[in-house]
Amino acid sequence: MSSYHTPVLLESAVNCLNVRKDRKYIDATLGGGGHSALIRSRGGMVLGIDQDQDAIDNSKKCADIVVKSNFVHLEEIVAKYNWFPVSGVLLDLGMSMHQIVDSKRGFSFQAEEPLDMRMGESAVTAAELVNQLTVGQLASILKDFGEIPGARSLASKIVANRTYSTTGQLAKVCGKWSQQAFQALRIAVNDELGALTQVIPQIKNILEVGGRAVIISFHSLEDRIVKNEFENWGLPLTKKSIQGERRSKLRAFEKI
Ligand SMILES: C[S@@+](CC[C@H](N)C(=O)[O-])C[C@H]1O[C@@H](n2cnc3c(N)ncnc32)[C@H](O)[C@@H]1O
Repeated sequence: MSSYHTPVLLESAVNCLNVRKDRKYIDATLGGGGHSALIRSRGGMVLGIDQDQDAIDNSKKCADIVVKSNFVHLEEIVAKYNWFPVSGVLLDLGMSMHQIVDSKRGFSFQAEEPLDMRMGESAVTAAELVNQLTVGQLASILKDFGEIPGARSLASKIVANRTYSTTGQLAKVCGKWSQQAFQALRIAVNDELGALTQVIPQIKNILEVGGRAVIISFHSLEDRIVKNEFENWGLPLTKKSIQGERRSKLRAFEKI
């Protein structure tokens, strides 16, 4: 297993894809390439996508084609590489261990790093959000994406202690809520729920009939989007979500 990232739900996710020899699959969150490598070892061909150049550099050999992009461009990518028919798509959402521990982009509240949190080419950094948003805007992010009770009072405290350029400065103000606040800001910076909502109809369009979509999520809001959006058109293969390491949840659907 690579030190870049230890995949969660590795076997379960790839089993749900029902990999068939020489069929085409898409790993839209390539990361350290663990899932892609297993798909290939079962005979599938993989087009891997990641918005983080570090993942692309690390995992080139784990897929047949690697593309640095946000997965919101899925349909364009499939057309450009003529990657048809698509028998399965995997999304393993969230961050890699490399991003948290080694990327020096401010994902960890325990390290002293620039307060950035961009996985790819997002328009804003976490520092810009905490330095520029109103108390109300910050409170919504902390409440919705961090599930922080008393989000408004934390938002007021953050605003009162401006300005921030490092993770340490923000963690000092957030105290025991640092982990949740950092998660919330990361989701906002990378528009993670927006990207998920945009990619689901594209997965529907590109999958062949009988093709599978497998999604691993780490946040209740992500899981809700997955459950609601896929059930509009996909046959759920997992009655309840499959629970995995690090609070992960897997759902799988078949295009009918
Ligand atoms: C949990 S890791 C994936 C780990 C991977 N399954 C493995 O086996 O190593 C998530 C990866 O998805 C990427 N990612 C997250 N959101 C993305 C998006 N909207 N578009 C492209 N890549 C994204 C991150 O940069 C990160 O490398």
